[in-house]
Amino acid sequence: MADEILILGIETSCDETAAALLGGRRLLSHVVASQTATHARFGGVVPEIASREHCLRLGPVVAEVLAEAGAGFADLSAIAVTYGPGLVGSLLVGVAGAKAMAFAAGKPLIAVNHLEAHVYANFLEHPEPEFPLLALLISGGHTHLILMRGHLDYQVLGRTRDDAAGEAFDKVARALGLGYPGGPLLERAAREGDPAAFDFPRAMLEPGSLDFSFSGLKSAVLNTLNSARQRGEAIRVPDVAASFQQAVADILARKTAAALKASGARTLVLGGGVAANQVLRERLRAETRVLGARFVCPSPLYCTDNGAMVALCGHYRYLAASFADWRLNAVPGLSLQDFYKKSGKTQLEFAG
Ligand code: KG4
Ligand code: ZN
Repeated sequence: MADEILILGIETSCDETAAALLGGRRLLSHVVASQTATHARFGGVVPEIASREHCLRLGPVVAEVLAEAGAGFADLSAIAVTYGPGLVGSLLVGVAGAKAMAFAAGKPLIAVNHLEAHVYANFLEHPEPEFPLLALLISGGHTHLILMRGHLDYQVLGRTRDDAAGEAFDKVARALGLGYPGGPLLERAAREGDPAAFDFPRAMLEPGSLDFSFSGLKSAVLNTLNSARQRGEAIRVPDVAASFQQAVADILARKTAAALKASGARTLVLGGGVAANQVLRERLRAETRVLGARFVCPSPLYCTDNGAMVALCGHYRYLAASFADWRLNAVPGLSLQDFYKKSGKTQLEFAG
């Protein structure tokens, strides 16, 4: 461990309090304390409760990660933390906690964008990335097609103009009475359904656009449910779920194929909670194979929020000497594009 780069990664952008320790590119330990059960009775994440839970759990989660790896703060090379995008109260707990730990231990602080962390989740279990690569990021808050020409270099080729893919899953799941969290429950319901039962719209937007739109699809599902209810007709929930999921798969596959062709990238990587969906993974794997490109995706465990992806991105920022200073603050609306422009190498200001 002595001469390895040792990065502690901290993630608190939404409702998972997570931390991990990486030695080089090797995961030594990681813990995700999920708040799903706490928020389930409200049908969604309640921001103040999420912040309070992070406040309670961050210390114990970090202590557990260090203990499991037999490491102490003195062994660390740096502490990496997600500072946006996300819920402001949740982010503030992680950022303030990481700053306090880094300051007390005399270690550098590294600021990580949650979206880039989701992309880096791919390289935890797979060999070094081959650039240029295309990343499809599909989470609860974002749907992005990102071209990477090298480490920490991002060009957003397309993004959603309305709902994120995960948001559409969650809203449709709620309308179907499937509960929270919607994505995994909808995927399970869809296993018993016919994906061709309903022909929901697949918005492709204007020719050449790599942007996404999911609100028309979501509204079409809700309208179908409402009209069936008004007519007193029974509707098979698994059929609606499978048809909706199929429409999302079609939209993602077509846009991703167009982006692969347009960018010349030879590898597709996936990221974000929605990438845990088996139907979508298989569809994108097949689409990529047809184009002769390489397909990589993280294990479902690393698709959803975790500290390991933050630590790995922190590892590459450490190599690039991209450190934050003590003025680091939470940026709930942080975008990848802004981040890229602003992320010049800044040196850590050590006090004393
Ligand atoms: O990346 P993530 O954990 O948090 C954000 O950064 O947003 O993603 C959470 C989103 C939620 O919308 C959740 O419903 C969705 O990912 N999700 C899924 C599945 N597992 C999680 N959506 C579809 N199928 C799944 N199996
Ligand atoms: Zn996320």
